Amino acid sequence: MATAKATSSSKDEMKLEHVHFEVDENGVATVLLDVAGEAMNTIGPKLGADLEAVIEKVETDASIRALVIGSAKPSGFLAGADIEVIRGLDSAKAATEASRQLQAAFGRIEALHRERNKPVVAAIHGPCLGGGLELALAASMRIVSDDEKKTTLGLPEVKLGLLPGAGGTQRLPRLIGIAHALDAMLTGRNIRPRKARRLGLADEVVPKDILLDIARTRARQAATGDLKPPKQGLARLRELAKEVADPDFLQQLALEENPVGQHILFKQARERLLKQTRGNYPAPEAILECVRVGIQEGFEAGLALEAEKFGELTQTPEAKALISIFFATQELKKDSGVDAEGVEPRPVKKVGVLGGGLMGAGISTVTVAKAGVPVRIKEIDDAGIGRALKHIRGELEKDRKRKIRTEREVDRLMHMVTGTVDYSGYGNVDLVIEAVFEDLDLKQRVLADVEENAREETIFASNTSSIPISKIAEKAKHPERVIGMHYFSPVEKMPLLEIITTEKTADWVTVTCVDFGKRQGKTVIVVNDGTGFYTSRVLAPYMNEAAWLLAEGASVEALDRAMKDWGFPVGPITLLDEVGIDVGAKVAKIMQGAFGDRMKAPGTMEALIEDGRKGRKNGRGVYTYENGKKQGVDESVYLVLGQTAERKDFPEDEIQQRLSLQFVNEAALCLQEGILRSPRDGDIGAVFGLGFPPFRGGPFMYVDRAGAGE
Ligand code: NAI
Repeated sequence: MATAKATSSSKDEMKLEHVHFEVDENGVATVLLDVAGEAMNTIGPKLGADLEAVIEKVETDASIRALVIGSAKPSGFLAGADIEVIRGLDSAKAATEASRQLQAAFGRIEALHRERNKPVVAAIHGPCLGGGLELALAASMRIVSDDEKKTTLGLPEVKLGLLPGAGGTQRLPRLIGIAHALDAMLTGRNIRPRKARRLGLADEVVPKDILLDIARTRARQAATGDLKPPKQGLARLRELAKEVADPDFLQQLALEENPVGQHILFKQARERLLKQTRGNYPAPEAILECVRVGIQEGFEAGLALEAEKFGELTQTPEAKALISIFFATQELKKDSGVDAEGVEPRPVKKVGVLGGGLMGAGISTVTVAKAGVPVRIKEIDDAGIGRALKHIRGELEKDRKRKIRTEREVDRLMHMVTGTVDYSGYGNVDLVIEAVFEDLDLKQRVLADVEENAREETIFASNTSSIPISKIAEKAKHPERVIGMHYFSPVEKMPLLEIITTEKTADWVTVTCVDFGKRQGKTVIVVNDGTGFYTSRVLAPYMNEAAWLLAEGASVEALDRAMKDWGFPVGPITLLDEVGIDVGAKVAKIMQGAFGDRMKAPGTMEALIEDGRKGRKNGRGVYTYENGKKQGVDESVYLVLGQTAERKDFPEDEIQQRLSLQFVNEAALCLQEGILRSPRDGDIGAVFGLGFPPFRGGPFMYVDRAGAGE
């Protein structure tokens, strides 16, 4: 990092491009981060240079007694490293060097207090993530705004296949203890103010309006000795254990206070980790190792390893895949969904949802909770409406329990949902999303009803999982306003929305639905119409191949294990039980009808259905269920399939190749046939909708990595 020259050298004021700097009459300096030309602060060479200039000033100016670090941006504190810069690091050596530089800069911030008795207070509102939190960790104190929605602290590097490379793996465990630090870094999860306070990550939580004032006051008090600096690490844990009387902390203390306990802790953490990652993700293993070395061999050894591992990780295929997914989602945020330019989305002020079942209720939840738009649910009877309302309230209550919403907000949002058994109230809806049963006649009928009861311009979107949209639109008066909006279950959690357009769908309709999907919090891809669209279509041959292997004598356990080892979150047979064997069979038939032998299934599902097995939903599938919880494989399924319980061994590698290549091959066909607009959409659809292993980047990146020839 080059040191920037202050353009004005007046004693109390420096003019730098990416920070504001001033010193008050008490000698408390304040630096407000404000990277020029960016909506959000990120750490790159620009900010780095200005920060170094500030550090030097505080180090050398005897009249400065303390430093407050805050942000001048309404968007928040500091969202982390500029990922574009990280992507540009083209060797492990260069990345290690970048990590060392930032470590050194933050080390100087920490030394301001330790060596020069100039306390540093971080004043945090909004995102304080990655390098942002690592900066705050180098401060003597962290004061955090009480905005539970906007203020988030965390080290999410692991999600990009990286590790916190600016001292985070060393400072966080020393501040909040090993167990909590590992949890934060291995999951990359966001930590909200209240939780941060409980963990000891935040020293004080205050309203945003007085954040800077309080931070300056604390800085002054700490400088004059009126305020004792907060304790760190074990001392702090002991204090917290007393303060919040939490048995969790006491137990943690017992483990962390001595080397034997630490040894157990690291061993257990490693076992848990490998069970989850199955060895597919190098970053969490590296994080664990950096923390262990830092605790057992000291801070400096830990820092050295952190920089080295950071460098190595930036060049791994896993990090490259995860980073490319990150950029793809960023690109999709800006994608209107059509190639034509200048098509504007029309306002969606009220939404009609047809069918308040599993999917309809979920779609209604995200419509009010995320998009903030009122919903009118049409069901066949009052009981149906009641079930939908119960589901929505249940979801909102989860937010309330996590303190993301107040009771009043939950009530307010619930008031935005109304129900009907006819089409009353449909005269002013802008968008109707249907999620009635998967039946073409029914879907055509409700489409006709909507055309009769809603406005001329109302958009009709279907959440069908397999019926071509053009078939649903066949009898429509206005096929240009018919589109597919394919959500995934559970809607509240699954990030993908697959929008399906027919040849007749108007651009403004597509753009409006894409825009609305984003407002519902979704990552949206737009695909062309065809049987199974993209996601259901690529899944079909993959699932079929599992069925064929089963027919050839493979065991259920071997199939599920192999694909989990390959990186899917659940194995194909578990997935079948989850989706429903009846649903799977229906889709399989449609696929075979459309694509012929390529999608031929061995009849496994029919045999299972005849035996009364629908999967988890009726507690009888390939697996057994007790009180809704999955137990072991029901060995009698092999007899139902006309086989014996004796299974053949298939090499894991063979299972993985056979299944994954079916998936990848079908994805390639979708691109070739123009179902997909780009490989990017195919990768995102597979990873976000179907759980394709993120570290492989999606089917297209997988092909690129292996080489298309291979
Ligand atoms: P569901 O059976 O839970 O819900 C369907 C609801 O529609 C029921 O509550 C039913 O009372 C209602 N309904 C039936 N006829 C109606 C009518 N004429 N007017 C108003 N409401 C009516 O089914 P689910 O799982 O929610 O699926 C709905 C649609 O979403 C289907 O097309 C399905 O293929 C699709 N889908 C399902 C996914 C899943 O994972 N379950 C995933 C993606 C799409």
